[in-house]
Amino acid sequence: MEANLLLMSKDDILNGLKEGKLSISVHGFGYVGASISSVFLRKGCHVIAQDVKQDLVQEINSGSWNFKDDKEVYDTIKEAVFEKRIFATTDYKESVTKTNFHIVTVPVSIKRDESGEVSVDFSHIVEACKMIGIFMKIGDAVVVETTLPPGTTEGLLRKILEDESGLTVEKDFALIYSPERIFVGRAVQDIESNYPKIVAGYGPRSLDVGEALYSLVAKKGIIRLSSIKAAEAEKVFEGIYRDVNIALANELESYCEREGLDFHEIVYAANSQPYCQIHKPGVGVGGACIPVYPYFLLAKNGFLKLVQIARKINEQRPNEIAERSLKKFYKRFGENEKLNVTILGLSFRGDIADIRFSPTIDLARFFSERGCNVIVHDPFDYKDTGLPNNVKFTKDLENALKDSNIIIVAADHSVYKELEESTFLKLCSDRHLIVDPKNVLKFNKRI
Ligand SMILES: NC(=O)c1ccc[n+]([C@@H]2O[C@H](COP(=O)([O-])OP(=O)(O)OC[C@H]3O[C@@H](n4cnc5c(N)ncnc54)[C@H](O)[C@@H]3O)[C@@H](O)[C@H]2O)c1
Repeated sequence: MEANLLLMSKDDILNGLKEGKLSISVHGFGYVGASISSVFLRKGCHVIAQDVKQDLVQEINSGSWNFKDDKEVYDTIKEAVFEKRIFATTDYKESVTKTNFHIVTVPVSIKRDESGEVSVDFSHIVEACKMIGIFMKIGDAVVVETTLPPGTTEGLLRKILEDESGLTVEKDFALIYSPERIFVGRAVQDIESNYPKIVAGYGPRSLDVGEALYSLVAKKGIIRLSSIKAAEAEKVFEGIYRDVNIALANELESYCEREGLDFHEIVYAANSQPYCQIHKPGVGVGGACIPVYPYFLLAKNGFLKLVQIARKINEQRPNEIAERSLKKFYKRFGENEKLNVTILGLSFRGDIADIRFSPTIDLARFFSERGCNVIVHDPFDYKDTGLPNNVKFTKDLENALKDSNIIIVAADHSVYKELEESTFLKLCSDRHLIVDPKNVLKFNKRI
């Protein structure tokens, strides 16, 4: 649709989106792409979902797409497919030429070389911006939502977009950055009502266009930042804050374990003082965000020592939990021939099916390398579990717990919270140890 967003008023943009005169392409239809599409669809907008996965595109268009992690997102997309307000394609030309706003949600993650050195992998977003650049028109807006090392959008991505399109940012097209801050499972609420939307533009005109776009969906309003680099840093800071605080919780929990203290009892009391907000410990830190974002700064800023140490503590956490579980078991029951180890939860978080950077994979590897029989339970289906070959995966909880010696509660899935002590006593070996650093099991809880 021909329109120059840079010349339009906020009201014209809002009305254009609501009336379907302006439309949106979303590039990368994963958790974030689906979520951001759904909030605009809920306002009556028209969306083209573009993704490189042919099977995903077919599933969306045929109505067989099954997104279990967020019912609200799933229901909205399903209905909008039926109403023909969204369709999916692998084709950049079709998605970019037919729309005005191009929202980029393809992943940027990290990769490790053989020596363990970590670097940022920009390959997907470089490819997406190249293709958007080829097909974009004067008056369009490119909106990046992917979390990025500060400076990436104004530097690398702007250059690709300008080189490929022959257009100039701020004069011919708007370049906007707005970090996605959703929690998978309640994304619609998060975008619409829980948080203000952070928006930055390459210049004032881009910023106004970005503000107009997001004011349609963000009831909590917009926080305008002075530069895109600042907005990129904002999101990275959020992730680092969580990583450092989880590392602190993990370390204090280890201290309590050594001293025979109940971490959760102490933290319950400590957190009753409003300036103290000790986080929850766990078996490690998983997901596409928290374990990744610290490296967006660390890659070029070795002076950030606290960030570095926190990352190290969290990366070593699965091994620490596994090692101390074995020691505790041997101390309590003596050396056993071959231990049966059960890990409850493959997903890194409760009640969602997301195994990206899941610490369960490291835990399972540790135990299997020490000759244990390892079985991992999770209530969800996974195409590829990512577990070592000799580790079993099951959705059958009874089977997972049968004759088990060491049970590690790794994820806070609801199904584990309700487990009774009698279930463990009935199914597990007489000689068994339950390790629950997250304090998931209700029967175990004092607090
Ligand atoms: N998952 C979260 O909770 C969350 C929260 C906030 C921000 N983020 C940010 O959003 C980004 C995306 O996260 P996600 O969870 O949606 O990832 P995801 O892996 O679920 O989805 C990414 C999608 O992008 C597609 N893709 C890859 N390369 C592409 C290309 N060149 N063109 C078109 N599509 C392409 C993939 O096929 C996939 O479907 C993350 O890198 C992160 O920066 C994620």
